[in-house]
Amino acid sequence: MNSKIQRIIIKHLAEITGYEEIEITLTSSLINDLGLDSMMVLDFHRLMLLDFPEIREINLEAIFQKEDTNVESIISLVQKELGIEREENTISALDSFKEIQDFHQYLETKDYIPYFRKNNGIASNKIVMDGVEKVNFSTYNYLGINGSEEINQAVVEAIKHYGTSVSGSRLLSGEIKLHQELENKIANFIGVEDAIIQVGGHSTNVNTIGNIVNEEDLILHDSLSHNSIIQGAILSRAKRKPFKHNDMNHLENELKRLRSKFRRTLIVVEGVYSMDGDICNLPELIRLKNKYDAILMVDEAHSIGTIGKNGRGVTSYFNINPNSVDILMGTFSKSFNSCGGYIAGSKSFIKYLRYNSPGFIFSVGMTPSNTAAALASIKICERDSELFNRLRENYNYFLNSLKKIGGNTGESSNTPVVPLIIGNSDKALKFSEMLFEDGINAMPIVYPAVKESEARIRFFISAAHTKNDLDFTLNCIKKHMDLIVTDREILEVI
Ligand SMILES: Cc1ncc(COP(=O)(O)O)c(C=O)c1O
Repeated sequence: MNSKIQRIIIKHLAEITGYEEIEITLTSSLINDLGLDSMMVLDFHRLMLLDFPEIREINLEAIFQKEDTNVESIISLVQKELGIEREENTISALDSFKEIQDFHQYLETKDYIPYFRKNNGIASNKIVMDGVEKVNFSTYNYLGINGSEEINQAVVEAIKHYGTSVSGSRLLSGEIKLHQELENKIANFIGVEDAIIQVGGHSTNVNTIGNIVNEEDLILHDSLSHNSIIQGAILSRAKRKPFKHNDMNHLENELKRLRSKFRRTLIVVEGVYSMDGDICNLPELIRLKNKYDAILMVDEAHSIGTIGKNGRGVTSYFNINPNSVDILMGTFSKSFNSCGGYIAGSKSFIKYLRYNSPGFIFSVGMTPSNTAAALASIKICERDSELFNRLRENYNYFLNSLKKIGGNTGESSNTPVVPLIIGNSDKALKFSEMLFEDGINAMPIVYPAVKESEARIRFFISAAHTKNDLDFTLNCIKKHMDLIVTDREILEVI
């Protein structure tokens, strides 16, 4: 199907019938579903001729009278008349899948799409997007050390020595010394026996969860869990139950009710929640997992390299022995300026994964450059406490100032993830657009990534932000605050 022709036809049908574009699909029958009569057909023909004068010869009226004529047949007819049938036939059949068509129609309804802008240079406190510099709050460079000479140099040396790929699964000849160095370093940094690294953060979760539980088991996960946890849970075939966000009473009730019905129960939480910027209640989670004989997995994607002593994560933040958590998962894509994930835990469990984790043994080993970048980043964390002082100062200042000007920052506290909750996806998009025009890159998070009533702008604070960056942004937010006022508040004022 030619998507341009399709869009135009659906647009005109919507104008004429009063249906929303999104309601008109390829299979909509013109007579039975859209209710076209002969006057409407004439109108449609007139509008179509404006866009496609070449179809003058088509007798649309005759075609419309057939009961089985649907949107797809009109598109095919117009394509044929325009002589683009052969070209279109070479396009994948997938293009006509309903979900793909619906998605494109949905996108068409959006005037402002802030996604996939092109960056130039290093994304830090500033970012050059589509050629223009912005104050940046939407990348994971929490420590502001991406692109530093030390990390770059380590990567250059790794590439000189090993090239750009290890060219094989680690199990089968893809192992290099750097892999083990990084695994030892991360295990040592956190304070556990061993760790295994994998090529993607998302896939590390998907891969690992399915490796420890199956249909005989139960997964209890926080309701705000990252997609990778949920995908892992779904693919594991275990029974999956979310508990209310950070609500330990709810978790305990579920454990009481369900624990005895399953062979194993896996509790999965995040160290720092990536949408809300709050921290899991680790002491209570450990008490519950011990009391109910469950397994505890903590995803530290946003807590490793941000909280705890020199970024050692959530166990260090609470001053808890890291060995009391069964599985500590994290990613190298945030504070560690690389790509990939790790699982850290007991020697015996990690060795089991080395020989049994499908996404590890049937996948290539981490690239030399990614391994070297992560390793160099952790070395910087170990010695540079000043980075963490700056990061802490910045997020505390930004969070408190945002609250002072009336921003709803939800549960965020003591972390570099600060949401400004707007409560409506369209308004969140608009707010982000206005900030962008002011010179600020702060991405909207809209439904379905969060509930519609919790649509927001999410600010990732970095140690690299200057006070000027933060004050400038706070002033701009203040200027646009009236957009957040809800209809209910307006009614109350009236
Ligand atoms: C909590 C959480 N887990 C896992 C991931 C996936 O990590 P990666 O982007 O490194 O694949 C993310 C990504 O943002 C995340 O926020």
